[in-house]
Amino acid sequence: MGLTKRPFAEPYKIKVVEPVKMTTREYRLEKMREAGYNTFLLRSEDVYIDLLTDSGTNAMSDYQWAGMMLGDEAYAGSKNFYYLEENVQKFYGYKFVVPTHQGRGAEHLLSKTLIKQGDYVPGNMYFTTTRLHQELAGGTFVDVIIDEAHDPTVWHPFKGNVDLQKFEDLIKKVGPSKIPYITIGAPVNMAGGQPVSMENIRAVNNLAHSYGIKVVFDATRGVENSYFIQQREPGYQNKSVAEILKEFCSYTDACTMSGKKDLYVNIGGFVACNDPDLFEELRNLVVVYEGLHTYGGLAGRDLEAMARGIEEAVKDENIAFRVKQVEYFGNLLLEAEIPIVVPIGGHAVFLDAKRFYPHIPQNEFPAQRLAADLYIESGVRAMERGIVSAGRNKITGDHNYPKLELVRLTIPRRVYTQSHLDVAAWAVMELYRNREKAKGLRMVFEPKYLRFFQARFEPIE
Ligand code: F0G
Repeated sequence: MGLTKRPFAEPYKIKVVEPVKMTTREYRLEKMREAGYNTFLLRSEDVYIDLLTDSGTNAMSDYQWAGMMLGDEAYAGSKNFYYLEENVQKFYGYKFVVPTHQGRGAEHLLSKTLIKQGDYVPGNMYFTTTRLHQELAGGTFVDVIIDEAHDPTVWHPFKGNVDLQKFEDLIKKVGPSKIPYITIGAPVNMAGGQPVSMENIRAVNNLAHSYGIKVVFDATRGVENSYFIQQREPGYQNKSVAEILKEFCSYTDACTMSGKKDLYVNIGGFVACNDPDLFEELRNLVVVYEGLHTYGGLAGRDLEAMARGIEEAVKDENIAFRVKQVEYFGNLLLEAEIPIVVPIGGHAVFLDAKRFYPHIPQNEFPAQRLAADLYIESGVRAMERGIVSAGRNKITGDHNYPKLELVRLTIPRRVYTQSHLDVAAWAVMELYRNREKAKGLRMVFEPKYLRFFQARFEPIE
């Protein structure tokens, strides 16, 4: 078969390899039973292709590894911190930076600093850890994303956008003094990796600021969002991803960051802002929960790897390949008519379990079952992003029933080749061919917080 269109390839070559284990179906069935039908409870050595997450699972470059040797492990004032600070200022544009061990550390500090008991925190769909920290700080999360985001079949170039009417309705209902900030995740992980446009963030900024409300950016995959703006939003075609990222951040007052995604590191994060008073409070609180304000729970070498990761992340050829690889994988599934969330997101392809297993009711956890079946059949590990992840309603105690019942196949950066993705796509197709036989699950153990990580299930026969 000849090539029919111009191929694309990795903007790097492989220097070190890590062998993976090949297993049998019987072996995997046994391991999945032991793991309570929860892919989070498998041992990684039993996984063939690991698409659980793109968080902390990336391959660092030789430039980052070389930086690890330059770790300045001083308790206070490590030079690696100052380099990180410089790069956050240069590429994200915020004035002040506080390092944290990962994204949720940043969310914890920011939520605790800004939210009072009884406050409301709007956001463009929730993220699990972000919402929980807002709730633990006494706030109530309110979803203000556009309706399209909740429909996996609707094509929209910026499906992560805020519905300004919903945002303004909330302000009028509860009063601006009860809304310390709005969180903007971009792209929106739980919606399928869907981006937010520059036009939308500008409008959010105007509306929020006209009521004295801050805008907080969850910048975890902000480089991916910037690439989508470059590709899809009129007027941005000739701008670099780095320029777009900086402009996007300029419409926000602060950010929380998990460096484990865009920045290619295995651990690390930060919270950054422009307001000196907010910075003082964050810098004070970090010493209680994470570590001194120049290391925030990280080793000097981790700070260096993250600082260098920023420089690589914003390079156009790197981010273009990253998103194209995800698109390639998604297109294989679309061509096979597998129900996935469209448009294809920046970090992952999401199977629509409601259409994949339409005969399994949502309270029998179809997405959880689909992720388990995928592992049993093929050794490919994915993650549930549906009713289990959505948790329970704070007031009624019933499950939250999200419209999206998804399985996420997440692509780590610089780790897998096109052939791995071909094999993973084939595994999904095989499963789809045999879908009628699948049955649901019953939950037999439920942890109190972020239950999806440790919940256990049994098959309904
Ligand atoms: N915000 C977003 C959008 C995320 O995707 C994550 C983590 C966090 C915040 C929290 O960061 O893990 O460093 O504490 N997402 C991972 C995932 C867990 O698999 O999507 P963290």
